[in-house]
Amino acid sequence: MAKVIVVYETKYGNTKLVAETIIEGLKKVKGIETALSELKKVDLNEIPDYDAILVGSPNHLGGPTRGVKKFIDKLGKLNLKGKLGAVFDTYMGGNFEKAAKKMEKKINEKVPGLKLVAPGLSIKVQGMKGPILEEELPKCKEFGNKIATQMKT
Ligand SMILES: Cc1cc2nc3c(=O)[nH]c(=O)nc-3n(C[C@H](O)[C@H](O)[C@H](O)COP(=O)(O)O)c2cc1C
Repeated sequence: MAKVIVVYETKYGNTKLVAETIIEGLKKVKGIETALSELKKVDLNEIPDYDAILVGSPNHLGGPTRGVKKFIDKLGKLNLKGKLGAVFDTYMGGNFEKAAKKMEKKINEKVPGLKLVAPGLSIKVQGMKGPILEEELPKCKEFGNKIATQMKT
């Protein structure tokens, strides 16, 4: 069984829903075991048990949350050589840079062992508290499905 963990932070629940929908997509591929964890509950020591690590954050002031940034720094201290990774964010709009882009940059700098296997997914919410735009949810499922398919090859 290939194992994937999806770690997310959320203030209003939208990024959690994205994480759950990505899991639905991952589970469409046979032989993939999934785990879902809120960032503050994740046990860092268990991270190396997974073959793929997905990290999600709401966009706060044009970047990921402070907690997510710290988490990526901590990933850099683990041995994750050969593991796969991917990131996602939720955002409201405006001329801000996507948090996913910044997370990818940080992972490439700080966690070189982690190979990003899909371009970061950015999901638009309607207002500060959401909800997620209806047409955005299928993208989450597709994202999960694409990553799971890559893990099997
Ligand atoms: C402190 C704060 C700063 C935010 N800054 C941005 C921003 O710079 N750009 C943006 O598109 N959305 C911004 N938002 C909106 C969030 O992206 C939105 O609340 C979030 O995607 C909802 O996800 P959640 O339900 O998982 O918290 C901000 C929200 C908060 C609370």
